[in-house]
Amino acid sequence: MNIFQMTGSWGTLESALYEEVVAAGIGPLYIRLLNEIDPKIPLRAEVLDVGCGSGPVACILARRRPDLQVLGVDLASAMIQRAKQRQESENLQNICFQEQNAMALELADDRFGTAYSVASIKHWPEPARGIAEMARVVRSGGLVGILEADRETTAQRARNFCRLWRWQLPGGWLLSAAYFKHFVAGQAVTKAELQNWFAQAGLVEIETQSDPDQPFVVATGKVP
Ligand SMILES: C[S@@+](CC[C@H](N)C(=O)[O-])C[C@H]1O[C@@H](n2cnc3c(N)ncnc32)[C@H](O)[C@@H]1O
Repeated sequence: MNIFQMTGSWGTLESALYEEVVAAGIGPLYIRLLNEIDPKIPLRAEVLDVGCGSGPVACILARRRPDLQVLGVDLASAMIQRAKQRQESENLQNICFQEQNAMALELADDRFGTAYSVASIKHWPEPARGIAEMARVVRSGGLVGILEADRETTAQRARNFCRLWRWQLPGGWLLSAAYFKHFVAGQAVTKAELQNWFAQAGLVEIETQSDPDQPFVVATGKVP
């Protein structure tokens, strides 16, 4: 992975850049996402965060839902190290992190009540396979959810997002937004692709929507 090409493993530099520049600025968006999915997660379930990065979303979820057991998995050891540090510093007991590949999860079938992934699928070499893996490990009736940058997004939504970053590229947030729209969202996904991959994975009650003011698409589906 480098900042111009989305696939491939994340190293220490990309992990640090993402954490300090993007993740550190977008806390309110993580909360907004969790406000959507939290009420749909059954009581006392196990929840899987695929491509959890340094665990910002998983840790907020574990803190606000002590009844859940959360597992965050990520391909990059640098990210998992950061996630474990976050867990320790927040003293969370109901969460753990493991290095794993979304393409072949080393997890039992039907184990989880919910599996979600935030801003990771654009990095997967075979997105359909990753969604099928998520569907495999969620039990019947459980939710699978994906949030990702929208390849069809507008320049305005890209600007809204990049203004939240903690640091900007030299040249300011307009240049950050042009970079984001072209190189990040430009290599991400569309609603139609997500709809198709969810259907291929056998998920039902599929819903996809674009965020009204941010450059993201969200898809949810149920395991039949
Ligand atoms: C943009 S970051 C998002 C991290 C986190 N979900 C967040 O919202 O802060 C993308 C993450 O996906 C991970 N990733 C990329 N390919 C992966 C794969 N095949 N399996 C698991 N994780 C992967 C990267 O290591 C990185 O941590």
